[in-house]
Amino acid sequence: MTGTEPKSLLRALDHEQVGPPPIWLMRQAGRYLPEYRQVRAEAGSFLALCYNPKRAAEVTLQPIRRFGFDAAIIFSDILVVPQALGQPLTFVEGEGPRLEPLEQVPLFDPVAFRRFLAPVYEALAETKALLPRETALIGFAGAPWTLAGYMLDGRGHDFPRALAELRQDTVMFGQLMDLLVEAVIEHLVAQVEAGAEAVQVFDSWAGLLQGPEAEIWSLGPLLRIAAGFVGRCPGVPLILFPRNAPASVLEAIAEDGRIAGLSLGSDVDPAWAARQLQPRLTLQGNLDPQLLVAGGAALDAGLDHLVDTLGGGPWIMNLGHGIVPQTPPEHVTQLVERLRRAR
Ligand code: CP3
Repeated sequence: MTGTEPKSLLRALDHEQVGPPPIWLMRQAGRYLPEYRQVRAEAGSFLALCYNPKRAAEVTLQPIRRFGFDAAIIFSDILVVPQALGQPLTFVEGEGPRLEPLEQVPLFDPVAFRRFLAPVYEALAETKALLPRETALIGFAGAPWTLAGYMLDGRGHDFPRALAELRQDTVMFGQLMDLLVEAVIEHLVAQVEAGAEAVQVFDSWAGLLQGPEAEIWSLGPLLRIAAGFVGRCPGVPLILFPRNAPASVLEAIAEDGRIAGLSLGSDVDPAWAARQLQPRLTLQGNLDPQLLVAGGAALDAGLDHLVDTLGGGPWIMNLGHGIVPQTPPEHVTQLVERLRRAR
């Protein structure tokens, strides 16, 4: 490829049908890779790895070297945003993240926020310098609803306090959501300034909300982020991932016009999405991560079904959720080889 040809991920996000489809996988850097476990052990802890630009760039590049994916997603975590807002964060081995439940909504100081997250931006710049020229670099953030859940409840499980605050429409909840819209936009813009060529917003817990609650508190903040981000970074594609959200939210995102890509969870029927959503925006997804654990004929059949449904339009191959640690790396090779032969 010449130096001027646009990267396949960016072509697809420009609503072009690209064959073979660009491929990247959520959590493509992680514990299923022995080379990740090695660097993770050297770093000492997950957060130490996140905040060491050299090591974070190294683990970001590992899956690119091994599998030749079309995009690298910067190695970080959605919970660095609450931490940068002043909320203490720890990762409990084998259990996941813990935040000290929030008592009052912090004030937003963009300068202090960016200073705290400087290692993430350095890792992006470092990665960009080492990336093959056909590989795109993706930045990301958590969505306000998902972040508010972790911040109010302290852990990622059902979010009873966040749901109660939302349903009582407390002042605290409204203020927290406003703060998060602003902080997420700031983090995305800073990542673009550091070298990200596309960004994805993860609303992993959108599925806890139904009907009007989903529209107000998952979709609403996502659209405010789209307006703010596109205003400050025109031309940089934004991908949204409202996992398990109702169809009305997916349809509203497709209709919006400012959002380049929609990442589908494994709950979405790809044939429905191809008909209802793909004429309006690029779709990403949505292989069940368990099929990647299974491999063999089950994986092939799942991939062929996606090629037959989503492959007829602008599509980026991905999973419906993150790679699980039990995934054999050879199954990822199988996935890449089969799709690169697809068309
Ligand atoms: O995708 C990538 O390769 C980039 C890195 C990335 C991580 N987390 C690294 C990580 C991204 C994009 C995330 C996003 C993230 N983090 C989300 C949204 C996506 C989703 O999965 O729904 C959420 C909800 C989090 C919060 C989080 N971080 C949880 C719940 C956990 C524990 C899960 C687990 O498997 O233990 C983490 C830890 C985490 N983030 C790991 C990695 C590679 C595993 C930690 C380790 O290596 O010890």
